Amino acid sequence: MSEPTTARAAPTAAGIAARHALGWLVAANAVGVGLAVLLLWPDLNDVLGPLTYGRWVPLHLDWQLYGGCALPLVAVLLQWCLGERPPSGVAQARVAVGLWSLALLLGGVAWLGGGSSGKMFLEWHGWTRPLLPLAMVVLWAVLASHAWRRRGEPDRSGHAGRAAVLLVLLAVPGVLYWSAGRGVYPSVNPDSGGATGTRLLLSTLGIVVIFGLLAEILGLARRRSGPWFWGYAGFSALVGAAIEHGNASHHEAAEILGLATLLGWIPLAWFHFTGGQGVAAARRWWAAAYAWWVLLVVLGLLNFLPGFSERLKFTNAMVGHAHLAMAGLVTSANLAVLQELGAGRRFRRFWLWQIACAVQIAALAFLGWGELGHGAELFYSAPWTQAIYGLRLVAGLGMLGASVAWWCDARGATNEGVAT
Ligand code: HEM
Repeated sequence: MSEPTTARAAPTAAGIAARHALGWLVAANAVGVGLAVLLLWPDLNDVLGPLTYGRWVPLHLDWQLYGGCALPLVAVLLQWCLGERPPSGVAQARVAVGLWSLALLLGGVAWLGGGSSGKMFLEWHGWTRPLLPLAMVVLWAVLASHAWRRRGEPDRSGHAGRAAVLLVLLAVPGVLYWSAGRGVYPSVNPDSGGATGTRLLLSTLGIVVIFGLLAEILGLARRRSGPWFWGYAGFSALVGAAIEHGNASHHEAAEILGLATLLGWIPLAWFHFTGGQGVAAARRWWAAAYAWWVLLVVLGLLNFLPGFSERLKFTNAMVGHAHLAMAGLVTSANLAVLQELGAGRRFRRFWLWQIACAVQIAALAFLGWGELGHGAELFYSAPWTQAIYGLRLVAGLGMLGASVAWWCDARGATNEGVAT
């Protein structure tokens, strides 16, 4: 990928997806700030009724996941499949990404109205259930038609890679539709006492595979690291399959050791991601993503251990863990990706985001650790818990401000110039 230029240019397909991604990040963060306000002053719910806390939570979660977190990956796919400024590609990308955003918007309206499956991140229910899968089908058709158009270009490994990825992605709309059903994977699962080592290992591996592919597609991967990276992924998948599934306890050594194989991804991620040229403006975002990744793996494993798990489950510390993964790691990696694609000038407010995010996570971890035996103080808004929620709100405002600046940066890039 090349450095952004200041030459005047129309938006690219990736640039369009980037703008939508950052727009949703801003919207979801604004809802997050609203939720933080409601946690600090719960009486406000009486004023807002029926649009109380629980109605807003799906907007925060799903707009973050399907908007801020997913659309940068859509930007990568568009750039990868469409190539540089293809005829008609930008208009088609605009339609596909527009439908995706329309689905998120309509989903939000339905969730505020109380129409939800009740399952976290799968709230799509009733008339909203097919919306995002349909948008995904349109996007897939755009990607596939351009990958096909480019089949004559001299890039055999690129064609094979695109075909393989598109084949896997073909399953996603159907799986999303199916899994949102209330009969599938109930939100309170009577067959499980919670996340097992296997489940945590395999779901984290899914993220690792996506990151590994990203490094390959963006040309950042070290050639010699491929066999190590993908070999270790295969080995970890075998470990995940071998250790006990279902009703397994986090006291069992096999579960703990299985999950501990994730530690191997700390050196491997570094090795894999530091091979290519990359864009200078992206480097600090990659470095931040790596720092969050190290923290995530180490603290995630710690959270699973006997003693820690019992103390932290269902507390604010788990909310902190979610923000460490998504607001820390994924958001920093996504900003790096968008810089690699030339979708923003130099994204500003790097330290504002990193520091505010760290403060938010630390405050939640501290509160979660102290919750044991102090549930009533949290519930009845004791001064010390209010102070921590207040600090979290301030940090959230900082994160919101940073995301607004990025959205402006991305708009500036598509109006004034993008990577060539
Ligand atoms: C402006 C910054 C943000 C603020 C103020 C904020 C605030 C909140 C609040 C109040 C909750 C609900 C916690 C509860 O009900 O116990 C929450 C949950 C969550 N947020 Fe955020 N958030 C912010 C940014 C983000 C970002 C950037 C992401 C992801 C990219 C994210 C992902 C999540 C997730 C996954 C949860 C669910 C956590 C759980 O229940 O385990 N948040 N957030």
